[in-house]
Amino acid sequence: MSVKKVAILTNGGDAPGLNAVIRAITKTARTNGVECYGFIEGYKGLLENNYVKLDLDSNASGLLHRGGTIIGTSNSTNVFNFKVVNEDGSVEYKDLSDVCVQNIKNAGFDCIFTLGGDGTQKSSRDFSLKGVNCIGVPKTIDNDVAHTDMTFGYNTAVSVATEAIDRLHTTAESHHRVMVLEVMGRYAGWIALESAIAGGADVALIPEIPYDIHKVVEKINDRKSRGKEFTIVVTSEGAKPRDGEIVVKKTLDDGKGLDNIRLGGIGEKIANDIEELTGMVTRNTVLGYVQRGGTPSAFDRVLSTKYGTKAMELAMEGIFNVLVNYKDGKMGYVSLEDVVGNNKVVGAASGNTKESNIRTIKMDDDLIRVAKDLGICLGD
Ligand code: F6P
Repeated sequence: MSVKKVAILTNGGDAPGLNAVIRAITKTARTNGVECYGFIEGYKGLLENNYVKLDLDSNASGLLHRGGTIIGTSNSTNVFNFKVVNEDGSVEYKDLSDVCVQNIKNAGFDCIFTLGGDGTQKSSRDFSLKGVNCIGVPKTIDNDVAHTDMTFGYNTAVSVATEAIDRLHTTAESHHRVMVLEVMGRYAGWIALESAIAGGADVALIPEIPYDIHKVVEKINDRKSRGKEFTIVVTSEGAKPRDGEIVVKKTLDDGKGLDNIRLGGIGEKIANDIEELTGMVTRNTVLGYVQRGGTPSAFDRVLSTKYGTKAMELAMEGIFNVLVNYKDGKMGYVSLEDVVGNNKVVGAASGNTKESNIRTIKMDDDLIRVAKDLGICLGD
């Protein structure tokens, strides 16, 4: 089939580089004489039939270095399980995906590019099963999408976290304090572990290794005995103690199943426990959304551009219902079914569900080896 008209949607939490992907798809579309549109606020725009034409000379100009997404995003819209509040106040969850399919047909879009993480790609796969031509592009600062070595936005998030560690270092050293830094990462500890290595932290706690607080205390005391009166601890928001659970800040009512929870608070818990067990003054910093906002790093600009150009190339070749991926230094693609349908480990602990396949850090990963060689305490 010949592709003439395509649309992009950006869904889920934003990530630095989203606009760079939009730009790359739109430019490659123009090169091939294809019209390019953007749905406003992700799947919400698809449901509401709300889209705009992307014009490289006006609304889609100057995008490479710009944070966020010019077409907006939604991380609470699951059109396959959509929350509807009836007139009498009762709540129902409905499958409204057929409305979206009709909108796509009416507009004549030959392909929809779905820029998002695990949840977004699951819906993308489900739309593929309904006959829509979808091409996914893996986006999340958490870097946890299956079958791809690196998502765009991750590199920028690691840089921001590393700068935070650098800044915490000098104040920790001056005050003889333990500093805890809570970074993002729901089910995978990529940001925590890589920034801990880049920033020279002493402890890195990640979802993949439930931690023993006494091991952390041992590390702090060992440093103290060697004259180091301060310690830097980096923790993923999804880290949890061996004998406890992840710390949930809020449970949401948005039909997103397992992902209904907002995480946050583990850093505070760790800081309190450390202060109590060591007697050292301990402070917690939650890095939060600065990891996601702002301008992408040079690396992410290039990676995003590779993702976007490859996505449009695949559309031109008629290869649909796939996720563009980056494996062993090369751009390629993998079927959406393999990404969100072919799960290996099912269970809330790893974030995997029957339908998703989160990429966690494996214990033979280089980052684990490096951390162990350096004596970074992983809480085990
Ligand atoms: O998926 C990326 C992420 O940054 C997670 O690490 C974090 O838990 C989540 O987004 C928070 O996003 P929001 O508050 O926008 O739901």
